[in-house]
Amino acid sequence: MKFIIKSCNLDKINTDCIIVSIFDSCKFSISANYLDQCSNGYITSLLKFGDIQGKIGETLMLYNIPKISAKRIFIVGFGKEKEINQFILKKICKNIIEKLKQTSIKNFVCSFSELSINIKNNIYWLIRSITLFLYKALYKIRKMNDVLKKNIYFNVIILNVLKDNELLSAKKALKHALAINLGITSAKDINNLPPNICNPEYLSIQAKKLAKKYPKNIFVKIIDLEKMKKLGMNAYVAVGQGSKNKPFMSVIKYTGKNVINNKIVALVGKGLTFDSGGISIKPALNMHEMKYDMSGAAAVYGVLIAASELELPLTIIGILSGCENMPGSSSFRPGDVLTTMSGKTVEVLNTDAEGRLVLCDTLTYLERFSPNIVIDIATLTGACVTALGDSVSGFFTNSEYLSDEFEKASKETNDKIWRLPLFTEYQKQLTSSIADFSNSGNSKAGAITAACFLYNFAKKYNWVHLDIAGTAWKSQTGSTGRPVELVCQFLLNQLN
Ligand code: BES
Ligand code: MN
Ligand code: ZN
Repeated sequence: MKFIIKSCNLDKINTDCIIVSIFDSCKFSISANYLDQCSNGYITSLLKFGDIQGKIGETLMLYNIPKISAKRIFIVGFGKEKEINQFILKKICKNIIEKLKQTSIKNFVCSFSELSINIKNNIYWLIRSITLFLYKALYKIRKMNDVLKKNIYFNVIILNVLKDNELLSAKKALKHALAINLGITSAKDINNLPPNICNPEYLSIQAKKLAKKYPKNIFVKIIDLEKMKKLGMNAYVAVGQGSKNKPFMSVIKYTGKNVINNKIVALVGKGLTFDSGGISIKPALNMHEMKYDMSGAAAVYGVLIAASELELPLTIIGILSGCENMPGSSSFRPGDVLTTMSGKTVEVLNTDAEGRLVLCDTLTYLERFSPNIVIDIATLTGACVTALGDSVSGFFTNSEYLSDEFEKASKETNDKIWRLPLFTEYQKQLTSSIADFSNSGNSKAGAITAACFLYNFAKKYNWVHLDIAGTAWKSQTGSTGRPVELVCQFLLNQLN
């Protein structure tokens, strides 16, 4: 499937279908109006039947249109012209794909560039969003025994741009969308894999493959169990010690050419390829979904792919903290006291609060790169889902600058986050009589206490923690690929 940006003569172009918009009360868009005039009012004459009013979700397929070379015109309702936003655009793109999939259409032209989605740099965001939304609507979890790599419905999709002076922005938007889409789908694909296949070692092998695919930019180093032990990463090691699938931490170094500054951004992904809870075992209901406890690592993997495709002129360290949390005779236990790589000790009160143990040692390990910015991404707490639901990720930071930057990237990408506090009052819940910290608080404000735990290990740099427990996957449709686009946008904004 190929996307092309073009400024075409809508009446002359040979294609299976042209898609144009109309608004509430049958108000024509510029493209619809143009085709109507070329066809001597054919569209107007059909709309008089009253089959479509222009409301969101309404569609009408027209055939044999006089004086139009395209085989079909597909009219799509967008509702009130002034109220169009990314959310509506997404719904409509999904609807378009569902309808066109049922036809024999292989190529189509989308003529939407006159729409306004109320955001600065409209044409850029319009083209980027449409491309990503169409791809999203086409994504399907691949069945394990599927040999075909891709299900191809369409060959060429042309995104028509009406004004020549918008071509440059539109082409840049398409380039960005394709790179980000590859990041998102790569994250989804690896995240959707079953835990008997995608274990910590598998994650590390995929990381190494990135170095093969992008040899000029990516260098990968794997920290295996022995190296972890030598480094004193005892908290990380403890979480993995109950599983015969040993922990692997993949360190992916991305260096763009012509790096614009000497800032180093580090991305850390919680990579629990399965979280049974360990000795503090989870209930059986939906435990299979804990294969998605590696969503953070999948996102970091996806962002690095997008960064490589975009050839970002930055230095990025991506870490996949791969591990499996299982019960067994060699598991760590409630009551154990662990000495973390930082030297601080932690009393384990609950082996199911394992993500913070893996992450605290990763955050300390990272110090050797002297990063300016560290972003950790983790399906860290069920409490975050209770607090914010399944559309909004929890957001924590020790930097007001990063707070502003993430709010900005979040608004631009519509990948929603909500900042929660790191007040010192919460640290009380993490006290232990025998160690510097306990690994779990009481039942209150669990997303915050988890973040406060990590805060203690992230004092040497500007730090962001994204709790994606509610947003990283959906029970029915699998991995969402979040927050790959958000983080990519944050990185793109760093270039300005
Ligand atoms: N991976 C889970 C968090 C989670 C739960 C993500 C449900 C998505 C859906 C994490 O390791 C965990 O088990 N956290 C515990 C912490 C508690 C024991 C302090 C939780 O949220 O219950
Ligand atoms: Mn857990
Ligand atoms: Zn977990």
